[in-house]
Amino acid sequence: MLLKILSFSTLSILFTLIFIGGYVSATGVGLSCPDWPLCPAGLIPLADFIIEYFHRTIAAITGLMVIITMIFTLKSKQAPKGMKVASIIAGAAVVAQITLGAFVIIERLHAHLVTLHLGIGIILFSMMVIVTLGSWRIQQDKEKSFSNLEKSTIS
Ligand code: HEM
Repeated sequence: MLLKILSFSTLSILFTLIFIGGYVSATGVGLSCPDWPLCPAGLIPLADFIIEYFHRTIAAITGLMVIITMIFTLKSKQAPKGMKVASIIAGAAVVAQITLGAFVIIERLHAHLVTLHLGIGIILFSMMVIVTLGSWRIQQDKEKSFSNLEKSTIS
């Protein structure tokens, strides 16, 4: 149950982050916060760079959640191998994505890097979909075997 809630929450925050990333790109505010890793006012969000600040803060939270989901998936005895592999790829992708975020800023939004940033975001999202579906499947199997056990005890 915990893995189901955790993976779904991670997928949801990642989905939101991709929307914010698209908004950063479409509004052209990618360089409004030209420093790395913090914005010019440190941890204080200012109106001048609020959208980019938001993108980075949500990215940090997402990164942590993807890693925690990976740890829980790897520890789970019921998780199939494919789900574990997907969680490892998601963990690696989120580290690569956050590191790449720094290069996107340092290289002043170089087209290749921004395209790669979008591509890794898609891989990350796909892997988290696999992990989330896997966790729902584990929960369903548990409920099924529990109700089968109940039926056999009654009859
Ligand atoms: C899990 C982490 C992250 C994900 C999933 C993510 C995702 C995205 C996506 C989907 C876009 C839109 C790309 C496009 O429309 O072409 C974007 C844009 C952007 N991201 Fe991230 N991002 C992440 C972390 C970061 C970090 C840590 C930074 C660090 C500064 C960053 C900086 C940027 C910038 C500057 C843009 C705008 C690029 C432009 O103006 O075209 N991202 N991000």
